[in-house]
Amino acid sequence: MAERVLVTGADGFIGSWVVDAFATAGYSVLGLDIRSPADRRNPRSDGEYVVCDLRDGDIEGVIQRFRPNLISHHAAQASVPGSVKNPVGDAMLNIVGSLRLMDAARRHGVRKIIYAASGGSTYGVPRYLPIDEAHPLDPVSPYAVSKHTVEHYLRAYQFLYGMAFTSLRYANVYGPRQDPHGEAGVIAIFSRRMLGEGDPIINGDGLDDRDYVFVGDVAEANVAAATRGDNECVNIGSGVGTNVVAIFERLRVLTGYRGARIHGPPRAGDVPSVRLDPARAAEVLAWSPRTTFEEGTERTVAWFRDRVRAPIPR
Ligand SMILES: NC(=O)c1ccc[n+]([C@@H]2O[C@H](COP(=O)([O-])OP(=O)(O)OC[C@H]3O[C@@H](n4cnc5c(N)ncnc54)[C@H](O)[C@@H]3O)[C@@H](O)[C@H]2O)c1
Repeated sequence: MAERVLVTGADGFIGSWVVDAFATAGYSVLGLDIRSPADRRNPRSDGEYVVCDLRDGDIEGVIQRFRPNLISHHAAQASVPGSVKNPVGDAMLNIVGSLRLMDAARRHGVRKIIYAASGGSTYGVPRYLPIDEAHPLDPVSPYAVSKHTVEHYLRAYQFLYGMAFTSLRYANVYGPRQDPHGEAGVIAIFSRRMLGEGDPIINGDGLDDRDYVFVGDVAEANVAAATRGDNECVNIGSGVGTNVVAIFERLRVLTGYRGARIHGPPRAGDVPSVRLDPARAAEVLAWSPRTTFEEGTERTVAWFRDRVRAPIPR
């Protein structure tokens, strides 16, 4: 019988790709999200779908009925500025919601939880680059704290109950379906703007590097973690640093945008350059990023172009 995987945050940017990747790999998939079917943003993702709020919904009932072997946990308050504005709300979902999920999972014999952790924030201000998994963990935002806290619970539940986990510490994930109106996701925001929604603004000088990994590769890392990498925390990144000015210029070529480069004030709380070392993921998950930045940005812009009705001429 096919393995059964429950994907939380299934209507989100990354979760919707994870649903599709597991379905393509032959798993039986149930997606869970707080969004009602009428409000869904990614309704074409494969798999069954259930509405549940991880903070106070009947997660136990969902697990009891579906009987998953695996859970890929993506539901979260996923914004750093959002966590600064409302640290209690962030913790209620990212810590307590995750713990409710894990506790129901261990009571119903779930074999393993694959967890969407944050390699971009959990290590804090980098002490060396590229950041490997031995780098000190020094979260400096409520979001980074809440995301990392769950890794401790996963370790404890593995020790106490033998429930396995893999924590995938994502770099900056980008690609089709990313919300272009959020506070993060510069590639989505700039693509949408350059295609007609307005001028993109670069925060500060735009010269700090970030590590951008394509969402399809991230979804594949989840499928790899279903059968490998038990009880490991691994970086999921490209290992390549790219700054916002380079992104601007790349997207300018792809979109034909002719506006000038506009800089705004730097954003408070942004850490300096970050680049993750993905070597451990190659070792324990047999996973490496496959999509080049050139290909990934091309696919992303093509996706946004299909959704722009009337570009503003410039
Ligand atoms: N996007 C990135 O670059 C990145 C980097 C590192 C880690 N992550 C992690 O990956 C995961 C997915 O991120 P994303 O960018 O796809 O975010 P997203 O906001 O697109 O997806 C999160 C999903 O969780 C759902 N959700 C929110 N509150 C819920 C609740 N109370 N109960 C059930 N579902 C709820 C939302 O409706 C949404 O569909 C998050 O855990 C995030 O912390 C993302």
